[in-house]
Amino acid sequence: MFITIEGPEGSGKSTVANIIVRRLEQLGYDVVHTREPGGTPIAESIRNVILDKNNTNLDARAEALLYAASRRQHLVEKVWPALKEGKIVICDRYLDSSLAYQGGARGLGVDNILNINMFATEGTFPDVTLLFDITPEEGLKRIAANANREVNRLDLEKIDFHHKVRQTFLELADKYKDRYIIIDASKPLENVVEQAWEQIKKKLGI
Ligand code: TMP
Repeated sequence: MFITIEGPEGSGKSTVANIIVRRLEQLGYDVVHTREPGGTPIAESIRNVILDKNNTNLDARAEALLYAASRRQHLVEKVWPALKEGKIVICDRYLDSSLAYQGGARGLGVDNILNINMFATEGTFPDVTLLFDITPEEGLKRIAANANREVNRLDLEKIDFHHKVRQTFLELADKYKDRYIIIDASKPLENVVEQAWEQIKKKLGI
């Protein structure tokens, strides 16, 4: 099963994913927990280029292609082999982030971004996508409160950009109803964990 975790900045998705992975492992599941952009040395190198705060003149289409390149490398080296071995793959961000950030917020068009990603992924869609939904204001407030988290180039975008990200994610959730599950990430962490855990258990039939 290929599970992706999506949502805006400060939605707590990575913290919740860590807890879910631990619970699944305790139940004996073989889980690969990974993230995008990155997850393998080559893909992490691409991540560094994309998220470097000094790369202010990175072209929007070049950025979209770098995300797609990093995604493909990660699929080839890590995700596809793990799925072939019957493991559960939990990936923090995937293709839907490109649709929301580059397609929606950056204005390149969701269909254009879907096209380059169909080439990159050969049509590999997740079985389940958990969308951690929270307003950008609330999310950014949480980032500011978390001194340990490094601020990246996309965090520095204006609030309007983050509103478009959220709106596009919600549109995607509506378009891909079969695989999308919306989690109310504005709730306290323990509640968010339980919402996500209940949904994962339901999907796994446990
Ligand atoms: P994160 O590791 O904190 O989630 O940061 C990754 C950043 O990259 C985040 O701001 C979202 C952004 N992103 C895109 O814009 N497009 C993508 O396809 C992916 C995977 C991430």
